[in-house]
Order: sequence, then C-alpha cells, then structure tokens
Amino acid sequence: MTAPRIVVTGKIPEPGVEVLKTIGEVWAWTDDEPIPHDIRDEQLATADAVVTLLTDTVDEAFLDAAPQLKIVANVAVGYNNIDVGLCQVRGVTVTNTPGVLTDATADLAMGLLLMVTRRLAEGERLIRSETPWKWGMFMMLGTGLQGRQLGIIGMGGIGQALAQRARAFGMQIVYHNRSAVAPDIEAALDARRCDLDELLATSDVVSLNCPYSEQTHHLIDAAALSAMRNDAVLVNTARGPIVDEAALAVALSNGVIGAAALDVFEREPEVHPGLLGLDNTVLVPHLGSATVETRTAMAKLAAHNVVGFFDGSGPATPVT
Ligand code: GLV
Repeated sequence: MTAPRIVVTGKIPEPGVEVLKTIGEVWAWTDDEPIPHDIRDEQLATADAVVTLLTDTVDEAFLDAAPQLKIVANVAVGYNNIDVGLCQVRGVTVTNTPGVLTDATADLAMGLLLMVTRRLAEGERLIRSETPWKWGMFMMLGTGLQGRQLGIIGMGGIGQALAQRARAFGMQIVYHNRSAVAPDIEAALDARRCDLDELLATSDVVSLNCPYSEQTHHLIDAAALSAMRNDAVLVNTARGPIVDEAALAVALSNGVIGAAALDVFEREPEVHPGLLGLDNTVLVPHLGSATVETRTAMAKLAAHNVVGFFDGSGPATPVT
C-alpha cells in the first residue's frame, strides 16, 4: 500500500507529528489561527487520515470534502465536535485520547475548587488593582473543604481522579453515573452512587465530569441550579454546553448558588457577559489538559492511533 496522506488541522506537539511521519506523508497546518475552510478542504480532498483538534467541527461538509478519509484522530478525550454517527455510516473510524489527560484535568478541577472556595482569583484581582488592603480577621473569608460533600456528575476516569484528590482534602464523595463504578473503586474512594436530584440537593460542590451529548445538553439549567443549595459551588471542566450559561449567570448574581469555577464555556471562546463581573466566579480558558507533558502525550496517542489503523494492529483508543 502507498503511504497514507495524513492531514493535521492545527498545531500539535512535534513528537506527535514525528510519529505520523513514520508511516505517511504528513501535511500540517502550523499557524496559531484556525485553518481557513478553503485550505482545509483542499487538503482533505486527498487525505486518508486527519488529526483534528476539539475546535474542528467534523460534520457533513467536512466529510464531503474528504472522499477517501478512513480515520479521524481527535486530539482530545471529548469528541462532541465529531459527528460519530455520520462517520460510522461513511466507514470512517474515529479515535480520541482518553487516559493520558486524566490527571491533568483532575488537577485543574481540584485547583479551580480551591481557587473558588478560598477566593484566590478575587484576592489576585485585589492586589493587582492596587486597592489598599491590610490583613484582617474577617478579610476575604472562604470556606474549607474538609467534611464537605463533593457530588461528581460523570464518574469516568477524570471523575474518579478528582474524587481521589478530593478525598485527600477530607471531602465526602457522592456521584451520579449511568452505571456504578467497580465496587473496589467505590470502596477505595468511599464513594456512594446516588440519583441526580439527591446529588444536586445535598452537595456542597457539584463537579461536571461527564461527556457532552444531546442527553447532557443543559443538564444544569435554571431548574437544576434552583435544586442546588444556595451556598453550593459548581465546577465545570467538562464541556460548556452542559450548563445553561445564561441561567448560571442569573443564579450566581441572585444567590441561587454560591459560586462557580469554569474551565469551559457554552460558546467558546465567548463567555457570557453576565459572568465577567462576578467575584464569586472563577473563569479560566479551557486549560484542563494544558500541560506540556499531557498535550505531548495526547498528540502521540492520536498519532499512534493513526499508525495502528494503517499497520493493521488497530487504533488503541477508538471511539467507534
Ligand atoms: C479537552 O477538553 C478534551 O476533551 O480533551
């Protein structure tokens, strides 16, 4: 077989590109700006494989432009940017990068939780704005995590890794997931499965760690926010559209919930203007997997998936 033609739609760490070059002819977009559609489509016309970022939308137009495409290797664990059903119909394999970003994403969720409960971003803003301040017994009091309940929605690898970290901070874990996790993991994390209503009503912190799909679109809407405690904290490191961002801005302004820490947004890179002025909200720009080690591992895994597909051993982490 002739070497496959592999298109990489955005900048990825070089070790990933090097892996791809061992088996194919690689064309990579290396600009920081997203690839223009006309250039993308010109490259897709003769592509056997494409390595995509979560900012690529792999829909009918994308697939129409790629008549000989055999595999889409997403450099992300989430693959809601890809129409997997349509790929299946067209015989295109889809892969993602689970596992390698679990620790980085759980670290970020824990970091956000600490930031929001100890008001760290607010304190940073205070100093940087050169507002006069002095130490005070009652200045900027936050809340501790010890003995508090963390409700995790989506108890896959990242949810479990967050639970492990939160246990080290003395938190109690409940979770909501389609299926129960293995009994030994439940026991190790001292985690209890419960329904969504109970999780929302009783948790001090609600963390979203589930995939985004039609089923989880606006899972956290105005009604869900009202069902939460009015001092509860919401942490989202999963996908923005799981939360109705407009409803969240209203809930945070009106004291329906206590605070939120968000790594992801409904219409990235836009952020609902109602969130921008709120001191009880920590906002960071989709940094879940953003460490050098993790992004390199993600690029290499995506590349190895392409290699596995073409050398016949099969991709290590297929979605379909
Ligand atoms: C990041 O958001 C990912 O899905 O990998």
